[in-house]
Amino acid sequence: MTLSEKVIYQIYPKSFLDTTGNGIGDLRGVTEKLPYLAELGIDMIWLNPFYPSPQKDNGYDISDYMNIDPVFGDFEDFDQMIARGKELGIEFMLDMVLNHVSTEHEWFKKALAGDKYYQDFFILRDQPTDWRSKFGGSAWAPFGDTGKYYLHLYDVTQADLNWRNKNVRQELFKVVNFWRSKGISGFRFDVINVIGKDKILKNNPEFEGKFEYTDKPITHEYLQMLNRETFGQDENAITVGEMSSTTIENSILYTQPERKELSMVFNFHHLKTDYKDGNKWTKAPFDFQKLKHLFHEWGEKMGQGGGWNANFWNNHDQPRALNRFVDVKNFRVKGATMLAASIHLSRGTPFIYMGEEIGMIDPDYDSIADYKDVEARNAYEMLIKQGKSEEEAFDIVSIKSRDNSRTPMQWDNSTNAGFTRGEPWLKVGKHTDINVKKDKDGEIYKFYKKMIDLRKSEKIISEGSYKPALEDAEHIYAFVREYGEQRLLVLNNFANHSVNFKIPQGFEKAEVFVNNYGSYESETLAPYQSVALLAK
Ligand code: NOJ
Repeated sequence: MTLSEKVIYQIYPKSFLDTTGNGIGDLRGVTEKLPYLAELGIDMIWLNPFYPSPQKDNGYDISDYMNIDPVFGDFEDFDQMIARGKELGIEFMLDMVLNHVSTEHEWFKKALAGDKYYQDFFILRDQPTDWRSKFGGSAWAPFGDTGKYYLHLYDVTQADLNWRNKNVRQELFKVVNFWRSKGISGFRFDVINVIGKDKILKNNPEFEGKFEYTDKPITHEYLQMLNRETFGQDENAITVGEMSSTTIENSILYTQPERKELSMVFNFHHLKTDYKDGNKWTKAPFDFQKLKHLFHEWGEKMGQGGGWNANFWNNHDQPRALNRFVDVKNFRVKGATMLAASIHLSRGTPFIYMGEEIGMIDPDYDSIADYKDVEARNAYEMLIKQGKSEEEAFDIVSIKSRDNSRTPMQWDNSTNAGFTRGEPWLKVGKHTDINVKKDKDGEIYKFYKKMIDLRKSEKIISEGSYKPALEDAEHIYAFVREYGEQRLLVLNNFANHSVNFKIPQGFEKAEVFVNNYGSYESETLAPYQSVALLAK
């Protein structure tokens, strides 16, 4: 099976299924639910970090790359999970966090203790620049009592690694090869387009430092080295790079197969269309025209440039898409299937985030104390400092927090939604009426299953080209896929009311190929209706 026919499912292990009662999901929990995922039809599972970590950023602060945190299990559990996956035709993709390590990592501890060899593993300066951390505040912190500062683009406990140092690169290649030796050939590389910092670090007041380290030409060189020294040696390797504030031009370069960098990339531009003036910590409706334009631009240009997208609506860093892009109160089910069609029928590899297949939504917590994420807590404080009232700050954090998607997976309607028999590390959401027991084989689940099946059986979906359609439509996101003689027009209504449109030429007699409603009336789409019309 080629990459273009595969669908990847993301599991946040901490919140998936707890088999021990400690309130934290574990690898055995993943193994237990593999048959459920095999039935859904997915090919690969991306697992967020489960390595030893102080958990300041939920495992993205790694203190030991080649180990498993006992709260998640051990290597026996890991091997069993891989073996069971193999039996069911499911592979695994591991999260490689190679931009930074926890300040609890031995490299950082040795550096701090004065070891020069390890000091060169980090980015140390006598004078900090004016760069901002992505989690708020300065991106620099005092390096012990040395009078120097170390760079941390994320939390103060996540120290950026110095990729310019060959020894660092070699150590990181060893990490990837270690997991390859455990039978893994799928890798998701965390914020990989920020590893190549400029040699001379300059102040950059306008963009908080962003362009001194994002998408630098040297990063392409590092990726080619990483590819050559590690996963590039596996014929079937599948890799995805998480790209922070990237461009289409760079994403093409990252993914053109002949350049031997990565298989595909995640970009986040479409998930910023509900940021007011580019600021996440605001409350604003999403801008549909912007969203549509971005999808069209990326879909078309990535195709023309021979690049490959990873398409997604949800992940562990995003509130649930149903709460953001759909009138969730009135049209949760149709909205969910429409969102699914809009990316599963497009060009690129679709990713499904756990719970999306049953239409899970944000938890609607009542108190700020329910939010655990470092980013949300920093943002709440920042909003209060800016003069917002507690209610206003809560209002914003509750719609923007990453915890919205990190809530425990809802398996049934019992206590803690069947996630744990203990105290969950993060409170279960309010809407446990949405759960696997009730919704497996429901409308949303069945539609996802169908989308996954179609990608495997229809070359036009896996391989077809992408062209924008109905570009001026007020509420419809439409595109045409082409493969040989076939043409598929995909129409997605993003409005909570019916809309009319003029059928593009050549599709007047096309057959209805996909429909998330029972019927389709020519040139009309019902609220959140998705229709794909096939012309031969
Ligand atoms: C992106 C990860 O998805 C996110 O959860 C994490 O906080 C940052 N990278 C830093 O590692």
